[in-house]
Amino acid sequence: MKKRRFQSQPSTPSPSPAGPKTQAEPPRGNPPSRSQVTSGGDTEPIARRAAVPAILFGLLAACLFWADVHIMGHGGELDARVHYPFNSTNELGQMHITIPEDPRMTMGRELYPRACASCHQTDGSGGVSQNCPPLAGSDWVNTKDPNRLIHLVLKGATGPIVVNGKTWSGGTMTPFEESFGNAEIAAILSYVRNSWGNKAPMVDEAEVAKVRTAIKDKRGVYNSDELLQMPVKP
Ligand code: HEC
Repeated sequence: MKKRRFQSQPSTPSPSPAGPKTQAEPPRGNPPSRSQVTSGGDTEPIARRAAVPAILFGLLAACLFWADVHIMGHGGELDARVHYPFNSTNELGQMHITIPEDPRMTMGRELYPRACASCHQTDGSGGVSQNCPPLAGSDWVNTKDPNRLIHLVLKGATGPIVVNGKTWSGGTMTPFEESFGNAEIAAILSYVRNSWGNKAPMVDEAEVAKVRTAIKDKRGVYNSDELLQMPVKP
C-alpha cells in the first residue's frame, strides 16, 4: 500500500545521481500508518494518542465529592421517612409534632373515673359482683349512632340487659341528667366510645341537648326493651 503512492508517478525525474528510480524516498518524519493512506493516496487527519490532562481527574473527583456532600446534606441520611426541608430523624424529633387531642377526650378521661368507674371499673371491664356489664368491647357502646347511649346515661337503666350475648340482671344504673350538662355527657360518652379498644364516632354536645329536650318528661329509669326500640345505626 505504502509503495503504491509512489509507484503511480514513475515518470517523475529523480534528483538522485543514481539515476531514475522506480521508488521515491520515504517522506521524512514518522512514516504514515496503514490507516492513514487511502487507496486514492490522500492522507486523513492524524489522531495521536495523548495523555488525559490530570486536571480532568481532579475535576471529576471534586464533582463526586460535591455530589456526596449534597446527597448527605439533603437526603435525610437516605432515610425514606425524612423529606425536605428536614435532614435527619433527629431534626424531625425535635419538632415535637403531635396531633392535639380532642378536648372531649381530655374532659371524658377526667370525668369517667368519678362518674362511672365505681361500677364499670377504670378499664371498662365491669363487674359481676355489682351486676355491672362491661363497656370495653360492648355492642351497646360501639354503635355508629350514640342515640340509645345518650338516653341510657341521661335517665339510667335497670336489668335484665344483654351485652355481647350475655345477660346481666339485678343491677340498676343511676341517671346522670341532674349531675352533668350536655357537654360533660358528650365528653364522657366520647371517651368511653374511644377507650379500651372501643372505636366509635365522638359524641356532640348538640346531640345530647336534643335527646335531653325530647325526654324531659320521662319519669323513672329505662329498661333494656325500651332502649332497644330506639333506632341506632349499627
Ligand atoms: C351504680 C353503678 C353504675 C354506674 C355509676 C354507672 N353504670 Fe352504667 N350500668 C350499670 C348497670 C347495672 C347497667 C346494666 C343496666 C341494666 O341492667 O339495664 C349499666 C349499663 C350501662 C351501659 C349499657 C350496657 C353496656 O355494658 O354497654 C352503658 C353504655 C353504661 N352503663 C354506661 C355508663 C356510663 C357512661 C356511666 C358513667 C356516666 C355509667 N354507666 C355509670 C351500672 C352503673
